[in-house]
Amino acid sequence: MRYFSVFFFFFLFFSSCDKYEPYCPEEDTTCEENQPTIFNLSFPSNFPTPNIPSFNPLTEEGVNLGRHLFYDPILSSDNTVSCASCHKQEYAFSDNKEFSFGVNEAIGDRHAPTIINSIFSTDFDWDGKSSSLEDQAFRPILNEVELHNNNWSEVINRLQMSEIYPDLFCNAFGTDDIDSLHVVMAIAQFERSIVSYNSRFDKWLNGEIMFTEEEIDGFNIYATERGDCFHCHPIGLFTDNIFHNNGLDTEFEDLGRYNVTGNPLDQGLFKSPTLRNIEFSAPYMHDGRFATLEEVIDHYNFGGHPSPTVDPLMKYVGVGLLLSNEEKANLKAFLLTLSDEEFINNSNFSNPFN
Ligand code: HEC
Ligand code: HEC
Repeated sequence: MRYFSVFFFFFLFFSSCDKYEPYCPEEDTTCEENQPTIFNLSFPSNFPTPNIPSFNPLTEEGVNLGRHLFYDPILSSDNTVSCASCHKQEYAFSDNKEFSFGVNEAIGDRHAPTIINSIFSTDFDWDGKSSSLEDQAFRPILNEVELHNNNWSEVINRLQMSEIYPDLFCNAFGTDDIDSLHVVMAIAQFERSIVSYNSRFDKWLNGEIMFTEEEIDGFNIYATERGDCFHCHPIGLFTDNIFHNNGLDTEFEDLGRYNVTGNPLDQGLFKSPTLRNIEFSAPYMHDGRFATLEEVIDHYNFGGHPSPTVDPLMKYVGVGLLLSNEEKANLKAFLLTLSDEEFINNSNFSNPFN
């Protein structure tokens, strides 16, 4: 009897080893018993309800795995580029280049957007072609100007053979049989943990600090008909997460939202970006056309270019806001109060391999 059970044990052991060749986990059988810890996400009460799909709850272990994947060039075909190559924490998870380099220095045609408070959004990419962060994360892994893999099986093989990932997947999802869905689920969990709400503006709102006179004037321009920014970039998230044409062009090189819907009324519409941490995420707009906030403010002050789809909320097309130099400077001073130093330096969001 004793001999029989030893024999049986070995049989099991070798058959599971075969499956995971060449990586052979020693404690494979305990994996399914793992219970990940619920991740506690805090955010202010004036923020909307977060969007967390029921099949992918936030857990400590899932966020940790996602953070590793986000920073690991193992996801790119030649091990040179990671998500963080284009979405850098110091630039509010955007890039300081107009267009970022992918594998083989391939270059795209849109500026890398920030990743901030994405848990409150339902549409992703400038044109909203992705409707969840899980959907979105699938895209760069195979995209030829981003991580440039030919197929998922290469990526999965690399992860399965690595020294760390089978354990990290086991802790997060109770499986070390890695697949593409769990890869994007983990990345989405990490992205959902990237929240920012500790700017000077938030502290002012909570009565913890005072604004300068310039900042107060800038806030009044922003939040009233005078500058009229608040409709598309409302107080709170500082984005309405809706698509608008803010008058950048009369003719469109990039048709934006139209590429997704095919509706002519969507030509030249792009998702309003959040203005939180705007100080860090230059250059600006979907094509990075403006290098500075002064240029952005000059665009709105000029009023924007007319076109059939220009947003009715761009009320000053052809007229201009007619802000004085002082008012423009004050509007900028207000925008700078949206910088969240704690967010930019938060070690929970930084490279776990450093
Ligand atoms: C080569 C640069 C590059 C790499 C690498 C890259 N991205 Fe992006 N990312 C972009 C660009 C450019 C866009 C805008 C795409 C569009 O609008 O069509 C984008 C869009 C996004 C968005 C949408 C943000 C929003 O609010 O709309 C998310 C989230 C994102 N990327 C996450 C990732 C993840 C996760 C990875 C790694 C798996 C990754 N990116 C790799 C450049 C890059
Ligand atoms: C009609 C809606 C609308 C109004 C009004 C509006 N914006 Fe925007 N804003 C947008 C959209 C849409 C974009 C992105 C456009 C693109 O990239 O094609 C944008 C982009 C920006 C950006 C660049 C963000 C980035 O990450 O690249 C800044 C800064 C900005 N707006 C500030 C302002 C200020 C300041 C005002 C008021 C003077 C204002 N906006 C009024 C819709 C609007």
